[in-house]
Amino acid sequence: MKILVLGGAGYIGSHTVSELVDAGEEVVIADNLETGHIEAVNPKAKFYEGDIRNREFVDSVFENEKIDAVIHFAANSLVGESMTNPLKYYDNNLYGTKVLLESMVAHGVDKIVFSSTAATYGEPESIPIVETDRTEPTNPYGETKLSMEKMMKWTGVAHGLRYVALRYFNACGAHESGEIGEAHSPETHLIPLILQVPNGQRESVSIFGTDYDTKDGTCVRDYIHVTDLAQAHILAVKYLADGGESNVFNLGNGVGFTVKEVIETARKVTGHPIPAVESPRRGGDPAKLIASSEKARKVLGWNPEHASLEEIIASAWKWHKNHPNGYAK
Ligand code: UFG
Repeated sequence: MKILVLGGAGYIGSHTVSELVDAGEEVVIADNLETGHIEAVNPKAKFYEGDIRNREFVDSVFENEKIDAVIHFAANSLVGESMTNPLKYYDNNLYGTKVLLESMVAHGVDKIVFSSTAATYGEPESIPIVETDRTEPTNPYGETKLSMEKMMKWTGVAHGLRYVALRYFNACGAHESGEIGEAHSPETHLIPLILQVPNGQRESVSIFGTDYDTKDGTCVRDYIHVTDLAQAHILAVKYLADGGESNVFNLGNGVGFTVKEVIETARKVTGHPIPAVESPRRGGDPAKLIASSEKARKVLGWNPEHASLEEIIASAWKWHKNHPNGYAK
């Protein structure tokens, strides 16, 4: 199959391209390199630099390449930024997807797998979260991702396109080679921030809130290795290629770890004391997010292999230790 990966120079995109290439698929990447990195572009994939909001650009890719399916990661994904600059999210995430879908329909490309998020649920009604639970996003990032799901649903009804929305919980870790990994600027995610301490880039890590209703008072999250996420995309493309109907799947390990447990595990993995400073809550953080991924296991045959937090953090550490400034020289 020839698969177009939009956002293939980003964190989860580059890991998915790597798994696709290893599986022998033909891969075409399109990325505007706004948050992606040219160094993360897999040399075995064909690369187009451009923006999905540019209809001519998207059309030209579909005209040059006979694409069987699209995997769509091209979006902004920072919850905090989405609160202060919501229209950026409506523009890139929603308008960008509208242009993409128009072009797919015009070129007869009818299968798309895309990054959705646990943020579509908002404050969970129960734990673990299942796909049929209430979706009430508490920020524009989650709202635009949920709207992307709906846009695909109705485009499917009208034009026969089929989609799989993958609702990720907390993506983390890095490729076993240590050559690609997480590199955001600014960094806001817990594990890379923790690892900046043993890397000598910060004195301590902040714990945002110690008065949540959890076992040690800090937030609980479901950390899922990026390579396991990547594998789910490949299975989702196969599912659609085999005639599967449009669908939505949670992707998580189904196990929650507190912020304190994550820091403690990073201390063990790195052998560094990693001082932590107890700080006020960060606005908009739910106390607990844990996925039920039973549906992805049953329907897609997904079987995440990196359930151990120690292993996840060790893989992230391998990347960050050797690339303290991400892809920057
Ligand atoms: N945290 C800290 N200190 C930090 C950074 C984070 O204590 O310096 C805490 C947060 O408060 C949270 C946990 O660590 O409780 C994880 O925070 P991240 O920022 O790493 O991840 P989030 O859970 O906020 O966000 C993730 C994805 C988002 C997605 C969201 C769904 O990164 O894309 O889950 O709620 F929207």
